Amino acid sequence: MNLTNPDESPQVDALRETMIGKLREIGALRSDRVAEVFRAVPRHLFTPGAPLEKVYNPTDAVYVKRDEHGVTISTVSAPELQAFMLEQADLQPGMNALEIGSGGVNAAMMAWLVGPEGVVTTVDIDPDVAHRARGLLDAAGYSRVNVVLADAENGVPEHAPYDRIIVTVGAWDIPPAWVNQLAPGGRIVVPLRMRGLTRALALDRNGDHLVSRSAMICGFVKMRGTGAHQERVLPLRGEQIRLRFDDGGGRTIPASRTVCSTRSAPKCGRV
Ligand SMILES: C[S@@+](CC[C@H](N)C(=O)[O-])C[C@H]1O[C@@H](n2cnc3c(N)ncnc32)[C@H](O)[C@@H]1O
Repeated sequence: MNLTNPDESPQVDALRETMIGKLREIGALRSDRVAEVFRAVPRHLFTPGAPLEKVYNPTDAVYVKRDEHGVTISTVSAPELQAFMLEQADLQPGMNALEIGSGGVNAAMMAWLVGPEGVVTTVDIDPDVAHRARGLLDAAGYSRVNVVLADAENGVPEHAPYDRIIVTVGAWDIPPAWVNQLAPGGRIVVPLRMRGLTRALALDRNGDHLVSRSAMICGFVKMRGTGAHQERVLPLRGEQIRLRFDDGGGRTIPASRTVCSTRSAPKCGRV
């Protein structure tokens, strides 16, 4: 499978440079290394069929799969979010890294950042998504990325310990396996939902506890499997507006715990 279309290269180059400029402007991209990885990994190879303008728009995710109710359960995340989380992760050559949630392109960027001496493993609970990621990574020249089909609740013990774990799906908690599979001094970047807001946190393992280094408000598709969390969703005005009660589920819910959301993934913002 060769997904490269030589005719679109000049257009891709222009779109990519514009995207990188905007990512710098909004502060998602701060280092030259992360800028370089966005140049080195052709993200359109991981989003076949999607319009290039969307693929290279800093704030657009590309949809990969919806469930039987039309709810998005897998995307290729927006460049803005990937850039910010790659900056948070600070991946260095030779590191061993785990990505939870597989779209292909982020794992490829991680592989570029850790270099040929490093190792990247990506895990997804969904067979379609894992299969898609494997095919696209191979076609783009990233066969050395390990793709694992599993519920990430238990991490991926066979390739641990990890210097870095990047969780690319909205989590309600940090399962013990993720912390146990971090090397001493290792870092986990995880979008954690707390009181109606999801924040991408960079947490360093320090002995028996985690220390927060940075945070950004963001939106992600929700965790499935063992770590899934029941929430109540109250549709208002048909499907136009939905009230989401994600904490507790009691009968009286304070306004501060309610979040209005639409079907599309919420936009990310910086704190
Ligand atoms: C936003 S997508 C991943 C984006 C991707 N990292 C990229 O390159 O942009 C989130 C993925 O997490 C996966 N996921 C959800 N729950 C999971 C779980 N318990 N274990 C592993 N993967 C899970 C979904 O199937 C979905 O494909």
